[in-house]
Amino acid sequence: MTNAIKFSNSDTTIEVKISLTGNNQILTRVIDEGKGIPEDEQQKLFNYFQKTSVLPTDGESSTGLGLAIAKQIVIRHNGEIGVKSIPNVGSDFYYLIPIQNSLDDLAY
Ligand SMILES: Nc1ncnc2c1ncn2[C@@H]1O[C@H](COP(=O)(O)OP(=O)(O)O)[C@@H](O)[C@H]1O
Ligand SMILES: [Mg+2]
Repeated sequence: MTNAIKFSNSDTTIEVKISLTGNNQILTRVIDEGKGIPEDEQQKLFNYFQKTSVLPTDGESSTGLGLAIAKQIVIRHNGEIGVKSIPNVGSDFYYLIPIQNSLDDLAY
């Protein structure tokens, strides 16, 4: 969410969508209308200290660490993380985390 703010202009919308998929995974998406990321740079941004040619919109600082750490957390939950992005249109960052039992099986 901080990336969505950092790489978008202030008069745009950011959506956060959280849903349960058909195969018991929690899907979380952060969708922005920001600068977007060129396709050939989209995979490296999940590696440590990797930034892209896309710079913050308001002079914010940048280390290239956030998404690499996010990827490690998601992988350790047996999940997956990714991005769909179009330059000058926006980005859709998502991650899936499997949950052990279906919500129906939980005893309240
Ligand atoms: N929502 C986004 N829109 C455009 N570019 C993004 C977005 N999120 C991340 N990026 C690109 O990926 C790079 C890595 O992001 P991140 O690991 O969070 O590091 P940081 O935020 O410190 O730059 C950013 O420097 C930026 O180039
Ligand atoms: Mg970041």
